[in-house]
Amino acid sequence: MNLLEVEQFLIQCSEELGWSDEWYKERIEGIQNTGEFHPTYDELVFGARVAWRNSNRCIGRLFWKSLQVFDERNLETEEEIYEALLRHIQFATNAGRIRPTITVFKSGSVCIWNEQLIRYAGYKTKDGIIGDPSSLVFTEVCQKLGWQGEGSHFDVLPLVIQVDNRKPVLFNIPKEYVLEIPIRHPQYERISELNLKWYAVPIIANFKLNIGGIEFEAAPFNGWYMGTEIGSRNFADINRYNLLPKVAEILELNTSTNSSLWKDYALLELNIAVLHSFKEEGVNIIDHHTAAQQFKLFEQQEAENNREVTGNWMWLIPPMSPATTHIYHKSFTNVIKKPNYFYQIAPYLLEKQTIETDLYK
Ligand code: ARG
Repeated sequence: MNLLEVEQFLIQCSEELGWSDEWYKERIEGIQNTGEFHPTYDELVFGARVAWRNSNRCIGRLFWKSLQVFDERNLETEEEIYEALLRHIQFATNAGRIRPTITVFKSGSVCIWNEQLIRYAGYKTKDGIIGDPSSLVFTEVCQKLGWQGEGSHFDVLPLVIQVDNRKPVLFNIPKEYVLEIPIRHPQYERISELNLKWYAVPIIANFKLNIGGIEFEAAPFNGWYMGTEIGSRNFADINRYNLLPKVAEILELNTSTNSSLWKDYALLELNIAVLHSFKEEGVNIIDHHTAAQQFKLFEQQEAENNREVTGNWMWLIPPMSPATTHIYHKSFTNVIKKPNYFYQIAPYLLEKQTIETDLYK
């Protein structure tokens, strides 16, 4: 425990939440007596929400105060943790009316190996990669631990939970917990022939939450998707599903020359299909223009509260038509304020080298 960091956090609590000086004094005294800082539920909620507010890469921060916080720090066994993760998935999914949610597990003991709770497997075969290439290494790890996928392009990976130094335990997510959206286009019916789908809720599981210097290594959290994450990246990146050539074929675009802008056409129609499909299924998703407008409101809100908005410009601009948003035309200081969420490398990657393909060489 670093008392200075704890003090900084608790001062922030008292300032922003209006907790009294007496409360602060007593709280600090108690912490000094035990030598340990265990955030109360209210401190945990505030810490998790401010950590979102401080997430420099996130365009969706307007809603930071609405984050639902589940305190599962008392759970001990892999089984119990698995059940809490299913509760998270169900609560957050909410039949499509997605709720920003975080579940916090015990610090220093629980480790979730997944990158996101719901993610598609990727397999290397002699005819090329099946599924999501970004999951190749983790899929192999799951297979070594005894998991077997169906070999489709969209096999949901199992949850891999490790407690202390025990062997990690695998759990399948029952199908009824995974809301998925088949992708179709409002005009081009043949887009359905690609048999694409994506899951409704991105639940980041490999970031640790830092509150007052205490690290919660297992604290999966989610918002809802911005369309471009799926349409411009997951489906379009050449090291992901790499679908632009197939979309271009369906749309009968002239792919023999860059200057026909076939990639841009294909991207646009793919993104329209993603937004349309989610909307039709009644699943929350946001387009990048509206997300940018909401981010502007967040900036105004923060200014009114005399706080500076920190940000990471490279991540805040949408990957499609970035210059049509106000974000493109301004700059942000990328200073990391705490509480915050920090990337942590999965234990299975520590020994292994990450597979980085030489994409654009
Ligand atoms: N970009 C990631 C994905 O496509 C998800 C990151 C978090 N996104 C969010 N909207 N909260 O799966």
